[in-house]
Amino acid sequence: MAPLKTVAALLLGAVASVEGAQDWDHSLFTTSPPVYPSPNMTGVDAAGLAGWSAALEKAEAFLAKLTLEEKVVFTTGAPGPCVGNIAPIPRVGFKGLCLQDGPLSIRQATYASVFPAGLSTAASWDRELMHLRGKYLGEEFRGKGSQIYLGPVAGPLGRSALAGRNWEGFSPDPYLTGVAMEETIIGVQSTGVQAVAKHWIAYEQETQRNPEGTFDADTIPSVDQVQSVSSNVEDRTMHELYVWPFANAVRAGVSSVMSAYQRINGSYAGQNSKTLNGILKTELGFEGYVMSDWMGTHGGVASVEAGLDQTMPGAWNWEPHFDDVPSWYGGNLTTAVQNGTVAESRLDDMVKRVLTPYFLLGQDEGFPGVDPSSGIYPANNNFEPESDWYDLWSSAGALNSESNVDVRANHSKLIRELGAAGMVLIKNNGALPLSKPKDIAVLGNAAGDVENGLFYRDVNYAPGVLPVGGGSGTGRFENVVAPLEAIKARAKADGTHVQYILNNTRLITSGGIGQMIAPQPEACLVFVKAWASEGADRESLELDQNGNEVVENVAQNCSNTIVITNSGGQNVIPWHSHPNVTAILLAHFPGEEFGNSVVDILYGDVNPSGRLPYTLAEKESDYYFANITSSVSNPNDTNAWQSDFTERLLIDYRHFDYYNLSVPYEFGFGLSYTNYSLSDSITIKPVSNSSSLAGVPAPSNAPGGNPAIWEEVYKVTATVKNTGAVTGKAVPQLYIQLPASAGEGTPVKQLRSFDKVELTPGEEKTVTFTLTRRDLSIWDVVSQEWSVPTGTFGVHVGLSSRDIKAKSSFTI
Ligand SMILES: *[C@@H]1O[C@H](CO)[C@@H](O)[C@H](O)[C@H]1NC(C)=O
Ligand SMILES: *[C@@H]1O[C@H](CO)[C@@H](O)[C@H](O)[C@H]1NC(C)=O
Ligand SMILES: *[C@@H]1O[C@H](CO)[C@@H](O)[C@H](O)[C@H]1NC(C)=O
Ligand SMILES: *[C@@H]1O[C@H](CO)[C@@H](O)[C@H](O)[C@H]1NC(C)=O
Ligand SMILES: *[C@@H]1O[C@H](CO)[C@@H](O)[C@H](O)[C@H]1NC(C)=O
Ligand SMILES: *[C@@H]1O[C@H](CO)[C@@H](O)[C@H](O)[C@H]1NC(C)=O
Ligand SMILES: *[C@@H]1O[C@H](CO)[C@@H](O)[C@H](O)[C@H]1NC(C)=O
Ligand SMILES: *[C@@H]1O[C@H](CO)[C@@H](O)[C@H](O)[C@H]1NC(C)=O
Ligand SMILES: *[C@@H]1O[C@H](CO)[C@@H](O)[C@H](O)[C@H]1NC(C)=O
Ligand SMILES: *[C@@H]1O[C@H](CO)[C@@H](O)[C@H](O)[C@H]1NC(C)=O
Ligand SMILES: *[C@@H]1O[C@H](CO)[C@@H](O)[C@H](O)[C@H]1NC(C)=O
Ligand SMILES: *[C@@H]1O[C@H](CO)[C@@H](O)[C@H](O)[C@H]1NC(C)=O
Repeated sequence: MAPLKTVAALLLGAVASVEGAQDWDHSLFTTSPPVYPSPNMTGVDAAGLAGWSAALEKAEAFLAKLTLEEKVVFTTGAPGPCVGNIAPIPRVGFKGLCLQDGPLSIRQATYASVFPAGLSTAASWDRELMHLRGKYLGEEFRGKGSQIYLGPVAGPLGRSALAGRNWEGFSPDPYLTGVAMEETIIGVQSTGVQAVAKHWIAYEQETQRNPEGTFDADTIPSVDQVQSVSSNVEDRTMHELYVWPFANAVRAGVSSVMSAYQRINGSYAGQNSKTLNGILKTELGFEGYVMSDWMGTHGGVASVEAGLDQTMPGAWNWEPHFDDVPSWYGGNLTTAVQNGTVAESRLDDMVKRVLTPYFLLGQDEGFPGVDPSSGIYPANNNFEPESDWYDLWSSAGALNSESNVDVRANHSKLIRELGAAGMVLIKNNGALPLSKPKDIAVLGNAAGDVENGLFYRDVNYAPGVLPVGGGSGTGRFENVVAPLEAIKARAKADGTHVQYILNNTRLITSGGIGQMIAPQPEACLVFVKAWASEGADRESLELDQNGNEVVENVAQNCSNTIVITNSGGQNVIPWHSHPNVTAILLAHFPGEEFGNSVVDILYGDVNPSGRLPYTLAEKESDYYFANITSSVSNPNDTNAWQSDFTERLLIDYRHFDYYNLSVPYEFGFGLSYTNYSLSDSITIKPVSNSSSLAGVPAPSNAPGGNPAIWEEVYKVTATVKNTGAVTGKAVPQLYIQLPASAGEGTPVKQLRSFDKVELTPGEEKTVTFTLTRRDLSIWDVVSQEWSVPTGTFGVHVGLSSRDIKAKSSFTI
């Protein structure tokens, strides 16, 4: 790999050359290798979930009872009460399956919680909280009668800071995302609810994710339509970045994987046999089923043979404004099996893959009926008996007669805690924590309550706080605690005078705060925000509604300006070194308890412990390496939308480190109200005989890939100490520097382990980092296996990706 020296503009005409990437040959990315036939599942256990073999036996016994038409039912979405539905089959006592969005809430439901977004969850670097969030989400889905949770998200990974859905996922670092995926999945599935890892794969932008004009039908885009963008990704990059966290998901025993909308090397994700039959079902040994994204199936037999097991939403009119949806599966699949085009054994495998997780999670043994208040958007409190699906679902006993079941339990406590844990303090000149101030000002339009209702679907909620973003990954709130409201409550207890101006226009005109605020407050808390949503990429990394000007204007007249950003990802914050900006807290998308979480941090009831799950660079153009806002040169060329992943492995900190670029706030960074030190000596111990490590392991297969790559091969210990005056949580991080034999273009260092440890003042703890064979490997495109390069491995332990406190090495 040659280093990329200049800007690579990424969306170009089909055969246009890519500036600067001398050795990128676009013509190699116009086809995807065929991988057929689709592998059968075999009932091998996943490390994170046992019992697949017994469940497969139940699935086989059940399958034997089904007619051909009944088998097809399990492969094709149908009319029903939920966002996606598998119809009941009363003849065999099957009550149907209810699929609901989405990653941070049971989206449409009433009396359900809205949890912190994936982004906030990643920023917590806290495995326990990640797990608990998953468990509570699972409990809420179950309580509402939904067997299938459409989440978590590892695609988009976050290649581009501009991608509209990054906040639904976790972090552009695949290791951190992998941890969050497995903790979420194990948590969700522990409640008997299926998790769906999405979106497979290389789905890194909203722009032209769907072919022109075909989001309204389950049809094949015709040749004269403009096709969806093609993500053109080299094999090594695919594995080391994009596949990586999905491998954790499969290893955790995820029930389903959802295919993406866009194309990969020119082939639609829902019928790309290399990624479905090849990488997912063979290499990763995935035993569950692949479902399509909604309206993302563009072929019948082609998808079936390529490995897509279930099409969604299938043959029904799922929103009033969509036309009736024909299906390439359904009756077409029945015919294709009858006339011999599709082998019945392939259909059998599709059904077994759907049924095995169902039996494995005990979903046949009594599951709550679907709560009418979680029904298809717009939610009703009652199902309409005239709906075409009602009689079938009702007669199957699949509907709950009770509406508005309250499934929130005490989850708001976790939401408040995780919301705070996912906030990252990046600057603090002693301004925080606040201590019974006499007078404060709350400024900026992100401090106030929402004005447009509590269902954050399509609307950029201006003005008002943004607890989460928009699209199918949003939630219906029962309650939003706005920052101003929570601050006022706290101020009342403290006897603090609170002044406020929420109108951003007013704050940048009319004499700013000077005219309106008196007396001069001890602290000016400025709340600014940036919206992000499915369906549209962010147009820039600027804050919305003149957020930067608001900060700059307030700072001119307030020497203690504390800025809180409320955002779905990276922003440019040109005022970060302004002397009057005394503290900066990145609040991300913390969910329904926003105000309480932020008060906990601002007042020091909770010591900040979040760390950046991405890099904050100085300027927007510093992120050029994955610019998705460029448009195509010839919009009439049906194949014009091409996204060449020419930056290869060098996204986020991998890019900034490789080119020695300075950034104001690096990946893994975050302050607290105490300080931590790490011993400058670390110990490294091979777990077993490491001389046999070099090269590729013997072939073997299990969910998550070759079990050998998951073997623990080294243990590294370090000592972390709290050197300050208050209790806090440190996040020691281990980065591996691969030897030169890993090749040019290999990132300088990569996160390969981390821990989060609570320490009282003066307390010292030993942390142990475990490294697996995969952690030391590169993807070898020749052997098609993870391979340990030979040479010296650098071990860097620190408190961020650039605050390395101890360095050591070992040789293989
Ligand atoms: C895409 O094409 C590149 C270059 O030929 C290749 O390395 C990669 O494996 C292909 N991936 C898929 C999924 O077709
Ligand atoms: C799947 O199993 C069936 C028997 O149930 C067999 O006929 C078919 O060849 C197998 N397919 C593959 C890809 O191994
Ligand atoms: C079969 O697929 C075609 C093409 O999408 C569609 O027009 C037709 O309605 C489908 N048939 C059924 C029964 O869904
Ligand atoms: C079999 O049925 C499928 C689905 O309707 C159709 O696409 C295919 O052309 C048919 N093949 C034959 C040989 O009739
Ligand atoms: C929430 O309730 C559960 C179950 O009743 C309990 O185990 C847990 O400790 C409670 N959590 C908190 C933070 O109160
Ligand atoms: C916000 O402030 C501007 C400038 O003072 C003013 O013109 C506008 O009417 C205000 N908006 C509202 C909703 O009051
Ligand atoms: C600062 O305050 C002064 C007087 O109090 C006022 O004239 C000026 O416009 C203010 N500037 C800003 C940017 O708020
Ligand atoms: C900082 O705030 C003080 C007090 O309002 C003001 O006098 C000063 O000009 C501000 N500094 C800057 C660089 O804006
Ligand atoms: C992306 O490209 C567009 C069009 O060339 C440009 O306006 C924008 O500033 C670029 N954004 C980044 C993040 O480089
Ligand atoms: C695209 O096609 C339309 C309709 O034929 C035509 O008006 C337009 O000029 C074309 N645009 C380009 C960039 O060729
Ligand atoms: C970055 O710095 C290192 C160490 O000084 C040097 O070896 C390397 O060549 C530099 N990389 C680039 C792309 O300038
Ligand atoms: C942490 O250490 C730095 C450098 O010694 C010091 O300036 C700072 O005040 C300390 N912060 C806390 C919270 O103890």
